[in-house]
Amino acid sequence: MGRIAYVNGRFVPHREAAVHIEDRGYQLADAVYEVWAVMGGKLADAEGHFARLERSLAELRIRPPMSRKALEMVMRETLRRNRVREGLIYLQVSRGVAPRDHAFPGDDVQPSLVMTAKSLDRAATEAKAAKGVAVVTVPENRWGRCDIKTVGLLPNALARQQAREAGAYEALFVDELGMVTEGAASNAWILDRDGVLRTRDTNANILRGITRRTLMDVIAEAGLPFQERPFTVDEAKAAKEVFVTGAGSLVMPVIAIDGEKVGDGTPGPVAMRLRRLYIERARETAI
Ligand code: PDD
Repeated sequence: MGRIAYVNGRFVPHREAAVHIEDRGYQLADAVYEVWAVMGGKLADAEGHFARLERSLAELRIRPPMSRKALEMVMRETLRRNRVREGLIYLQVSRGVAPRDHAFPGDDVQPSLVMTAKSLDRAATEAKAAKGVAVVTVPENRWGRCDIKTVGLLPNALARQQAREAGAYEALFVDELGMVTEGAASNAWILDRDGVLRTRDTNANILRGITRRTLMDVIAEAGLPFQERPFTVDEAKAAKEVFVTGAGSLVMPVIAIDGEKVGDGTPGPVAMRLRRLYIERARETAI
């Protein structure tokens, strides 16, 4: 059975799925997206991702293409048609198709909505987590509204490519003060020398990760010391543990930064415990 995509009201074979060349998402990155982890055929952290999607749309004044309820129904149908039990669902809304002009088109232009779903081999990602991953650091060079989840991901794509060429999994952006902002597609965390879990605060120019938010609840319940406080690359290199979070990575231990070992160069016990607790919680609350 081939993959099926949803494009503007129709389910179509993935290889034939297309939008118009004058879609504003294609020409101007005038579009937002969301990614949900799928666990047991259900949506993980569903509410948080829906709420952020609605916020991203509102910030850009893109009309929601349909109600949340209708969106959820289409998502479930996309998962069913692709037989995805474990994996990811991707959803993108652009401002629509209109003759190229930077300013917004008229209200008659309908937003475009596309969705794809893919299966992931959870055993393979568990094996990856058990080994840990390497990251590289790159200068922060993104626009000032990284809190909006837009498809304007060129700096993120270039950073990820740099990571791949260095044999690393993720790139961490570092601001002009030497502080880590976040990963190219994840939020960054450390367990510092004092045993305090730290991640960048959301006053900074970062995406308010939904996995990050849920993990904060998990950490509070586990009674672990935690602060929303910036850390430098040097602090990360000297930390007891480092990890990144996201709908794709879940909680992924980092064992090297720019080729330098973190701790003894193996996944830390706190990161591995948080990974287990996060996944348990996400499976229990998935809808
Ligand atoms: N990325 N920061 C950035 C820049 C991201 O792109 C993502 C998610 C995150 C983590 O957010 P969340 O926990 O809500 O997934 C942080 C998705 C998975 C992606 O681009 O594929």
